[in-house]
Amino acid sequence: MGIGVGKTLQYYPKEVELCGIDAVPEALEIARKKVGELGLNACFRGADVENLPFPDEIFDTVISSFVFCTVPDPESGMNEIFRVLKPGGRAIFLEHTRSDSKLVDCLFLWPMKLILKPLLDDDTLRDTHLLVRRYFEVEHKESYYHGIVRLIVGKKPSGGDQVD
Ligand SMILES: C[S@@+](CC[C@H](N)C(=O)[O-])C[C@H]1O[C@@H](n2cnc3c(N)ncnc32)[C@H](O)[C@@H]1O
Repeated sequence: MGIGVGKTLQYYPKEVELCGIDAVPEALEIARKKVGELGLNACFRGADVENLPFPDEIFDTVISSFVFCTVPDPESGMNEIFRVLKPGGRAIFLEHTRSDSKLVDCLFLWPMKLILKPLLDDDTLRDTHLLVRRYFEVEHKESYYHGIVRLIVGKKPSGGDQVD
């Protein structure tokens, strides 16, 4: 989700069948060129994560890196990721989020938000990690710089219902 110009494509194994979306079609043109160079099996579509053009329960894994800081309505984005993921499938998020430290929030993230929100519509104080926990069973998590950056691997419950 939100594959952008494809900076992360180099980390995907060649045997994976990859389907990438992004809200900016021009970015996908650049990603398409990289796919050719890397020899990946991938296709891309211009789409909004809040309204994915895919049927229910079609993907084994969904990956989002640094996307939920700008999605206008994170709840509907998460809902869509949950919908398109197969029961038992993994959702992997690498996102920047609100810190675990109020001091870091006040001294660093609030000032950053004042600059980045008007310029890039980037919200440095999102609670994406808490949102993920409401939908998925968290299997693995890593936190960096007092929680400013987090890696979360969630599993869609086999029964198909969200956690909370
Ligand atoms: C900071 S870039 C990260 C790109 C890529 N995931 C990476 O890690 O290199 C955020 C990307 O999310 C995309 N994006 C933001 N909101 C989106 C939305 N609602 N639907 C789809 N893509 C979105 C942006 O167009 C942009 O390409």
